[in-house]
Amino acid sequence: MRKKVIIDCDPGIDDSLAVMLALSMEELEVAGITIVAGNSPAEMGYENILKVLKFMDRLDVPVFIGADRPLKREYINALDTHGPDGLGGSFLPVVPSSSYIKQQKTAAEFISEVLPGGGISVIALGPMTNLAVLAEAYPEAFKSIDTLVSMGGSFKSPGNCSPVAEYNYWCDPDAAAYVYREMDRAGKKIHMVGLDVTRRIVLTPDLLAYMKRLSPHIGSFVEKITQFYFDFHWEWEHIIGCVINDPLAVAYFAQRDLCSGFDSYVQIETQGISIGQSVVDAMDFYRHSPNAVVLTETDPQAFFRLFFTRLLRLDSEPDLLEKLTK
Ligand code: RIB
Ligand code: CA
Repeated sequence: MRKKVIIDCDPGIDDSLAVMLALSMEELEVAGITIVAGNSPAEMGYENILKVLKFMDRLDVPVFIGADRPLKREYINALDTHGPDGLGGSFLPVVPSSSYIKQQKTAAEFISEVLPGGGISVIALGPMTNLAVLAEAYPEAFKSIDTLVSMGGSFKSPGNCSPVAEYNYWCDPDAAAYVYREMDRAGKKIHMVGLDVTRRIVLTPDLLAYMKRLSPHIGSFVEKITQFYFDFHWEWEHIIGCVINDPLAVAYFAQRDLCSGFDSYVQIETQGISIGQSVVDAMDFYRHSPNAVVLTETDPQAFFRLFFTRLLRLDSEPDLLEKLTK
């Protein structure tokens, strides 16, 4: 049975790869995409996801615009990482409005209306502002989320916006804190796919070259939107390649054995020097029941096998992957 999912995202280069992957997976049905201000301002993110949907020939997927700023904090985008257009400076043609149906509902309104149907999950790939708005305005709908997977936070891996904070939770710490608190109150667990596991998922030049050999059409699109990201990673993380965080969250949602970790109580810091930090009570100091599944281990080779076979629609195993992934 296909798993119905809503993808909340801030496209964003890796968000775009994640949506491409989700749309290529038979086991998933993307019920809708919601946009939140994060990597890119909300309107830019909306424009970008339409470009991706056009490339995938999936402009039938409804897209809804959500929050254009964090709940309280000043909005700080990540265009320094994702390029001036939020898609690696690819400046793909804007999708004409005649090609799609412009949705009038907000992200929270859409999610609140489809969730009560039951069996619908949410994969959050950006700051959690839309989810916080949903939890506050439509608490019963929020509680009916089947599975909530969040790309965000970090347990032991250094932050990417401060020594301890990951961007999605740093950009809107109040929203993240509220969502984790509301999950706790609902007695549910959020699956935290944080930097501990996503930093292991590096799209290298060799892997990109292999993608282009196996599927010139899709591989060259991926190349077009990731070159800027490669340069950023060389400059700031001194690695050859780029960390593609968000696709791991999608792959994990569909195939849970891709990551492993532990249940824990997690709180998000909303002020001070460690603002945005996900404080994971791994030693159970607070004796508080878990509100999260904290993912700490993953298998990059298994991820790239899924990523290649689904995204590139391969009929056989990509045999060079073993050599190209460590
Ligand atoms: O910290 C990485 C996360 O922040 C990813 O989701 C990336 O797209 C940005 O949103
Ligand atoms: Ca993202």
